[in-house]
Amino acid sequence: MINARAIRRDFPVLDQRVNGRPLVYLDSAATAQKPRPVIEAVRRFYEEYNANVHRAIHALGERATAEYEEARRHVARFINAPSERTIVFTKNATEAINLVAYSWARGNLKPGDEILTSPIEHHSNLVPWQLAARATGAVLRFFDVTEEGQLRLDNLEELVNERTRLVAVTQLSNVLGTMVPLDPIVAAARRVAALVLVDGAQSVPHMPVDVQALDCDFLAFSGHKMGAPTGIGVLYGREELLAAMDPFLGGGDMISAVRLHESEWADLPYKFEAGTPPIAEAIGLGAAIEYLNGIGMDRVHAYERQLTAYAREQLERLLGVVIYGPRERGGLLTFNVGDIHPHDLATVLDHHGVAVRAGHHCAQPVMDWLGVPATARASFWIYNTEEDVDRLVEALSAAKEFFGHVP
Ligand SMILES: Cc1ncc(COP(=O)(O)O)c(C=O)c1O
Repeated sequence: MINARAIRRDFPVLDQRVNGRPLVYLDSAATAQKPRPVIEAVRRFYEEYNANVHRAIHALGERATAEYEEARRHVARFINAPSERTIVFTKNATEAINLVAYSWARGNLKPGDEILTSPIEHHSNLVPWQLAARATGAVLRFFDVTEEGQLRLDNLEELVNERTRLVAVTQLSNVLGTMVPLDPIVAAARRVAALVLVDGAQSVPHMPVDVQALDCDFLAFSGHKMGAPTGIGVLYGREELLAAMDPFLGGGDMISAVRLHESEWADLPYKFEAGTPPIAEAIGLGAAIEYLNGIGMDRVHAYERQLTAYAREQLERLLGVVIYGPRERGGLLTFNVGDIHPHDLATVLDHHGVAVRAGHHCAQPVMDWLGVPATARASFWIYNTEEDVDRLVEALSAAKEFFGHVP
């Protein structure tokens, strides 16, 4: 099991008081805090070798390029991608998904083709498909959701049919904590030669993810949810698919030859990396991955599940707390307390030094499905402890008292 108390000391931002109380940060699903090795890697880049990549013929540029490409190798190994050519650096998971929605979907979908996604997606794995469907005449279809918040898979045969061209689905829901079983979904897609895009924004930071074992075609995730800086994300794509796709953005670095009326594209993955990339951010992501490898993703996953089970047990003891989503879940709990608005709840928790997210979590269809306008969410990562959960419970009890909430 991991030693969260020791890990916590690697995250300088956690060592502070908020409203007079030691900070308890329970919002890592929105963005995670950064360990010292990541901060150091970014500092070293700016203090020792800041330069542009892939173009400078000088020592700083060569070092920047080497470190940037080393970060790509770290990413490839981390998700067991077959080659670095399949790893495209983007701004975030959202941009990675949009890249596929523009470069693959618009060139490959025709009227009547179906894109299958689910009602429990983050907006970033829904809106790009709405736009792609509108542009191509393709049709959006949706998995059903069970009462517990899991995707219904007993009607897969009907949902994934000869018209299905793409299944775009999350591996872990940012609201319900649902862990989606991808194997049957990928198998159904394979039977009809549909592609599978996995939104790994909430899974890659929390559990081992192996793109070859999953056999997915695309995987998107964000660095900032796994200890890296903001501004860096990843699209993994099957090499033959990426090779056949048009570029997403045009400009410098993504070409091999440019003439006035036409151009030729650079090799993978540079064809998809137009302009100066997020260099420090990518190097920071490499450092975050090295840090997580030092802990072990199996252990991260096991620890979070144990901590979430503990949190669930504690919250269930509080009268009036409703927890949403399946029992078997990733490291987050979404809940409401009686009729207290989650924004009010989060404000009182903040007064107690406890940071949680409140709102619709960029997943309004999930709120519609739950029949609530908003929820509160406590999300955990490697630095959270049972004491953090106890502080959450203490602050929730205080909030109930403050609002005179007697269920
Ligand atoms: C499941 C899921 N997908 C996609 C995203 C989008 O991530 P980003 O805003 O970093 O692009 C998020 C962010 O919360 C998420 O939780």
